[in-house]
Amino acid sequence: MGPFVNITRRTKIVVLTGAGISAESGVPTFRDKGGIWEKYDLMSVATPQAFEGDPQLVWRFYNERRKQGKSVQPNPAHYALARFERLLPEVDFALITQNVDHLHREAGSKNVYHMHGELSKTRCTRCERVEERLDELPDLPRCSCGGLLRPHIVWFGEIPFGTDKLYQMVEECDLFLVVGTSGLVHPAAGFVIHGKRHGAVTVGVNLTPPENRLYLDYFYEGKAGEILPKLVNHWVSCLDS
Ligand code: OAD
Repeated sequence: MGPFVNITRRTKIVVLTGAGISAESGVPTFRDKGGIWEKYDLMSVATPQAFEGDPQLVWRFYNERRKQGKSVQPNPAHYALARFERLLPEVDFALITQNVDHLHREAGSKNVYHMHGELSKTRCTRCERVEERLDELPDLPRCSCGGLLRPHIVWFGEIPFGTDKLYQMVEECDLFLVVGTSGLVHPAAGFVIHGKRHGAVTVGVNLTPPENRLYLDYFYEGKAGEILPKLVNHWVSCLDS
């Protein structure tokens, strides 16, 4: 593979990850063959209207994913990004993920922005309190205030967390790396274009060419778990010399 883009200590890096980075850990993606949206109707489980209409059904879907999430481990792609952040503390590095799993943090990544929320957290529909809940939850969990809890997840039709700050980070970065995302769900899908317009070099790693392939200056087709360790080795070696 290669050629690779080089970095210096002054390069500001923003990474965006999607379901594809967790695929090799055994977490199903959404839109691939056999993906989550083939088995479930998105509109019945991942919208505010669905929760309003049948919160129990929505909770059953998320409780299943919470349970499944407990048995998965980070893969070499997660570890490569964590290693990068750890070995090069002088480089400005931020990791935005659309994933609701805990694998980036478990691999050791620190500066992580969960723009679509986190499976391990709940939010009260009455008092808005956000809580980390690692225990098993019933299908209609309640807050201590008595309000119904919802998953702390961004559903279709809702605005991702911290969007203004994320746009700003993308605008200010020099290198934008996008890994394992189909490039179909906005606003995340537009970050590549936004970064490129503001002068960033754009790099993509994906099993198949994503929808926004056109806006990638460098594209590596293949498994994130195989490509990212090589990419990170290269970047670490840029600063070693
Ligand atoms: P998708 O399922 O849409 O896309 C996953 C991408 O990862 C595809 O382009 C695959 O080709 C690629 N892929 C699969 N295995 C890979 C591997 N081992 N290495 C590299 N790439 C691989 O998932 P997302 O783009 O993350 O939102 O989906 C975006 C959002 O849509 C999700 O956050 C979720 C979903 O509906 C909400 O639930 C709000």
